[in-house]
Amino acid sequence: MTHKPVRKAVFPVAGLGTRFLPATKAIPKEMLPIVDSPLIQYAVDEAREAGIEQMIFVTGRGKSVIEDHFDIAFELEHTMTARGKDVSVLAKTRLSPGNCVYVRQQEPLGLGHAIWCARDIIGDEPFAIFLPDEFMHGSPGCMKQMVDAYHQIGGNVISVLEVPRNAVSSYGVIAPGAGNGVVTEVLGLVEKPKVEDAPSNLIVSGRYILQPEVMRILEGQEKGAGGEIQLTDAMAQMIGQQPFNAVTFNGNRYDCGSKVGYIEANLALALQRPDMAEQIRAIALNLLK
Ligand code: G1P
Repeated sequence: MTHKPVRKAVFPVAGLGTRFLPATKAIPKEMLPIVDSPLIQYAVDEAREAGIEQMIFVTGRGKSVIEDHFDIAFELEHTMTARGKDVSVLAKTRLSPGNCVYVRQQEPLGLGHAIWCARDIIGDEPFAIFLPDEFMHGSPGCMKQMVDAYHQIGGNVISVLEVPRNAVSSYGVIAPGAGNGVVTEVLGLVEKPKVEDAPSNLIVSGRYILQPEVMRILEGQEKGAGGEIQLTDAMAQMIGQQPFNAVTFNGNRYDCGSKVGYIEANLALALQRPDMAEQIRAIALNLLK
């Protein structure tokens, strides 16, 4: 059986980024760099690698530099070229008008609401979601691994990973069913449960392939955890109606929604970069003395 291809991805980027203040007072948290690329660039690269063609950014006030980032910087490129400088580093930042759409989430009503803001652009096809502050690093990337599984199983596919039991309350948590390799059936989903109520320590880690019916559910979704319209609650209603599975990502995950995870990601990536690994290693060792 062939499953409709995943051609579109939603990037909810309207969040206020309060955990990184004052850094994020005037710049979006999605523009914070890991080494020399902003977080949002890694997510877009991951989407492209998975064959996704259209990037839909759900933005808000103060987020327009994300649009600038994915535009052609004419003055910059013109000036650099005239001075004989290489502009190839900018190639990955250019999204042509057919490949990107920006919609606004006008009020911070929750992740579920942010996704729902993209409903008209999604239309009637399966789509991916990327939470850019979950930085998934691997080869192939997380979404490519998920798309490969989706081609086999169809339906809804989310990425999950294990965290220590005492950390589950910050996340969406799955009730796992039967497993088959990297794929685990999802029997239930709960957003930010108390540790004692959590059905497992497998958390939803910021990558989703969902069927468009989720938009209809989000339409009438009541507020959930934290008084917000939760994507997790809408997904939970699809279980039993449509296939719902989780893929365990084979790679590294850095929680760049937290300062510690963000520093870890920078260090880890710098240590993998041929142009600086040796120096960074020496610096790190020296600091740890
Ligand atoms: C969101 C989702 C949650 C998921 C998490 C991953 O929560 O609602 O299910 O586990 O992202 O980072 P948030 O971090 O927005 O509170």
